[in-house]
Amino acid sequence: METFDALSKRASVRDYMNQPVSKEMLEKLVDAGRRAPSARAVEPWEFIVLTDRAMLEKLAKTISTGVFLRQAAACIVVFCQDTKYYLEDGSAATENILLAATDLGLAACWIAGDKKEYCGEVSKLLGVPEALRLISLISVGWPVREPKQRKRRSLSEVIHWEKF
Ligand SMILES: Cc1cc2nc3c(=O)[nH]c(=O)nc-3n(C[C@H](O)[C@H](O)[C@H](O)COP(=O)(O)O)c2cc1C
Repeated sequence: METFDALSKRASVRDYMNQPVSKEMLEKLVDAGRRAPSARAVEPWEFIVLTDRAMLEKLAKTISTGVFLRQAAACIVVFCQDTKYYLEDGSAATENILLAATDLGLAACWIAGDKKEYCGEVSKLLGVPEALRLISLISVGWPVREPKQRKRRSLSEVIHWEKF
């Protein structure tokens, strides 16, 4: 798939088929994440790949905006060391994963991490040292139907040439 096809097809998808995603595909997603730009090239990220149903269920119970994790085939949890630009770096990695998932025909959704009240609990469940910051959890699975991109603000509305 061309980059612009993936950009125009990517959508948050929260319904998944009851079908696993291969280890190779999950590795490809993390590979896309680690190729993101990072300030001063520190690559502060760590990625935890979850496929264990019991853990996905626990996370679905912990994260009110991520209840659909219980249907997902997998979840990639993005953590970063607490650097100055941890959030930008981790977000760039997250978006890379979402675009790679679209490219592979997978469905995915960004679930909030940073600043959420459940950060500590998620870290504890996954055995992650307190010093690492939770950036995002990305649910992954096979779409039930063809994903549709939501209506967006138009290019002419958001583009400003030379000044606002
Ligand atoms: C920082 C961030 C946090 C998000 N957190 C959640 C979340 O916790 N649960 C959820 O269902 N969607 C979450 N989303 C997905 C947004 O709801 C979604 O991107 C938005 O509605 C636009 O839809 P689209 O991704 O299909 O374009 C998050 C997205 C971002 C960028």
